[in-house]
Amino acid sequence: MERTKIIDAIKHYEQIGIGNKISVKGWVRTKRGNNAVAFIALNDGSIVSNLQIVADLEKFDVALMKQITTGSCLHVIGTLVESQGKGQVVEVQADEIQVYGTADPESYPLQKKGHSVEFLREIAHLRPRTNFFGCVLRLRHAMAFAIHSYFNSKGYFYMNTPLITASDAEGAGAMFNVTTLDLNNLPKTPEGKVDYSQDFFGKPVSLTVSGQLEGELGALALGGIYTFGPTFRAENSNTPRHLAEFWMVEPEVAFNDITDNMNLAEDFIKFCVRYALENNMDDLQFLNDMFDKELIERMKFVVNNDFVRLTYTEAIDILTASKVKFEYKVEWGIDLQSEHERYLVEQHFKKPVILTDYPKEIKAFYMKMNDDGKTVRAMDVLFPKIGEIIGGSEREENYDKLKKRVEELHIPEKDVWWYLETRKFGSAPHSGFGLGFERLLLFVTGMSNIRDVIPFPRTPLNAEF
Ligand code: 4AD
Ligand code: MG
Repeated sequence: MERTKIIDAIKHYEQIGIGNKISVKGWVRTKRGNNAVAFIALNDGSIVSNLQIVADLEKFDVALMKQITTGSCLHVIGTLVESQGKGQVVEVQADEIQVYGTADPESYPLQKKGHSVEFLREIAHLRPRTNFFGCVLRLRHAMAFAIHSYFNSKGYFYMNTPLITASDAEGAGAMFNVTTLDLNNLPKTPEGKVDYSQDFFGKPVSLTVSGQLEGELGALALGGIYTFGPTFRAENSNTPRHLAEFWMVEPEVAFNDITDNMNLAEDFIKFCVRYALENNMDDLQFLNDMFDKELIERMKFVVNNDFVRLTYTEAIDILTASKVKFEYKVEWGIDLQSEHERYLVEQHFKKPVILTDYPKEIKAFYMKMNDDGKTVRAMDVLFPKIGEIIGGSEREENYDKLKKRVEELHIPEKDVWWYLETRKFGSAPHSGFGLGFERLLLFVTGMSNIRDVIPFPRTPLNAEF
């Protein structure tokens, strides 16, 4: 007999037909009952709701029933019936029950309900079995799907950029080295330095912090591309918004200027949020009820309102005029901290904000210089509760200007010669941005710690699972 997913039993029971036999498989969330009957809440991960299994104790072995505890895995064959009780429309009247796997109540860590998200992080191997993390994982999938469908509908091509790279041109943060050298017995050059010529690639390489530079090569050939993959930053920032390994979506589009870039970013992010509202309401409602009473409202607000656009300089003026005592002092030229970004978004505008035209000193070398010679055509999208969710820019397409910037910042030409060549041969105006996938997930799940929106978070001193 073919397995019926619980989502289908609950949502499409009319198609299955009340009174028909079905086969369901899943994990026990709870078992309760009396001397005559047991009610088993079964969950198979297809939906946050459980399917109620009603087991008439006369029909089943005492020993078998004893094995059915929270966390155990079952195969149930039974009749789909209208539920007598409250809380569910249908239930299954069990005919046969097979226990696939038991879960000793003495040692199963998820025996009780209502564990804190902090505790669940410590059992990341079992965390997917909880309702909350099931919602997160389904939303994560939905957002990945939405991202691909959005760019596909725009005619942008999904491009895979390398994870192992020899260039640190982005300057986005410390990198993780990749080597096959024996760290306890490093080969040395006559000068006493590590002899990388004996390493796997014959030179030092690391894990990428961004696929952008390679993405630009694609955009300047295919018109529009996007990357979507893992990125790695070894910065020791133990914050609720930073991971050492996170996923980034980086569209790069030929002929787009900074305004096109902002329009794309806003349209894209609204599409993703709208997608969740239209397709994942069960999960959103659960998270809204359990964790964040304003989640759905906040998501609808973002979809239905224009983002505010202003320059960095205007933002500095607003922050200065606010008279708020920030931990980090506000003055023109500072890299905005999360507290500043959140003040603008949550207190001042009460809307998502796109900031542009940042001082060149705090942004990457490839950003297009404005005529003032002081600011670059950067853009950061700032979101409520999160701060920066997207960072991007129009790119410097002028060979001489870009080369000058590379020299000013002492970026070794051997690292970026191939990148500079795009400006030598058929250069074109172009723009792009990077969306932190987990930051988007923070927004659509209402979670406040980034460790709770990725299955296996990588943070300083944490790589157990
Ligand atoms: O602003 P960032 O550093 O921009 C870039 O890497 C550009 N190359 C993007 C581009 O123009 N193609 O990073 C982009 C986004 C940030 O806005 C943030 O959402 C996310 O990536 N991000 C992180 N997310 C989690 N953990 C970290 N350590 C992150 N660092 C950046
Ligand atoms: Mg940034």
